[in-house]
Amino acid sequence: MQNKKITIIGAGNLGRSIAKGIVQKNVSQASDITLTKRDTASLDDLLSQGYKVTSSNTEAAAKADVIILCVQPNQLTEVLDELDDVLNEDQLLISVITGISIAQIAGQINKALPIVRAMPNTAIAIGESMTCISSSSKEGLAVCKQLFDVLGKTLIIEEDLMQASTVLGASGIAFFMRYIRAATQGGIQMGFDTDDAQLIAMQTAKGAASLVLENHSHPEVEIDKVTTPQGCTIEGLNEMEHQGFSSALIRGIMTSYNRITKMKSTKDT
Ligand SMILES: NC(=O)c1ccc[n+]([C@@H]2O[C@H](COP(=O)([O-])OP(=O)(O)OC[C@H]3O[C@@H](n4cnc5c(N)ncnc54)[C@H](OP(=O)(O)O)[C@@H]3O)[C@@H](O)[C@H]2O)c1
Repeated sequence: MQNKKITIIGAGNLGRSIAKGIVQKNVSQASDITLTKRDTASLDDLLSQGYKVTSSNTEAAAKADVIILCVQPNQLTEVLDELDDVLNEDQLLISVITGISIAQIAGQINKALPIVRAMPNTAIAIGESMTCISSSSKEGLAVCKQLFDVLGKTLIIEEDLMQASTVLGASGIAFFMRYIRAATQGGIQMGFDTDDAQLIAMQTAKGAASLVLENHSHPEVEIDKVTTPQGCTIEGLNEMEHQGFSSALIRGIMTSYNRITKMKSTKDT
């Protein structure tokens, strides 16, 4: 990826996060990244950090090796109409747009360039994204994986699992945040001030995920290690289950999934 020119069309929440992650992890220099947006006034901070910014999608895309589409689904048609004239077959087009298939994108452009669909999450800004990737282009997949591998973890999936990966990985950030917030509130009720309670909740959540990731173990194995017979942990855990903890999470995930699969074109995650 070194020395590749990357253009991000749509410098919103995710576009900015991707740009920051790419530079933080030394994949490219800020000067090799161009971000576009119709109103560039809010991009002064990026400009001062060495990124290129412009409101011209065609100018930015014409000189790029990799173009990442980061606009909202309902903004895509207009963008592809514009880009069609400047795209060429040596470029790679990556779309992170929710709910728009590779076939839909290919159907709107007249160039046979490789198209990859990627579903990262906002932790990409600190190089900790979970990014699911799909494409029929092996070469496109390889370049895209190389890019997102340094920005967290990647998984190559079939395209029909993209909606599910959006719920589990992208919406998942919100679900885990709510756990952290609830745990913090419990901590405050027990006597910690907010910052201390939140620090304990955050680091414990990170530690729990890291234990499973690094030990390649199963969550239940790690649970068994901390549940002493007749102890406080098992009593609390069982009460959470009596109140429907696992069930509420699965039902919430499935409600999001049912929603996303019913959307014709997904407005947001
Ligand atoms: N946020 C997430 O966690 C997440 C995760 C995975 C995938 N996604 C997907 O990623 C996409 C972007 O999400 P987001 O949260 O970053 O949305 P966002 O904050 O609304 O960003 C979209 C950006 O696109 C710009 N834009 C709109 N029309 C444009 C055009 N014609 N040319 C150039 N730029 C244009 C907008 O700025 P102007 O109005 O100034 O042009 C805006 O900055 C969505 O499709 C979303 O489904 C998001």
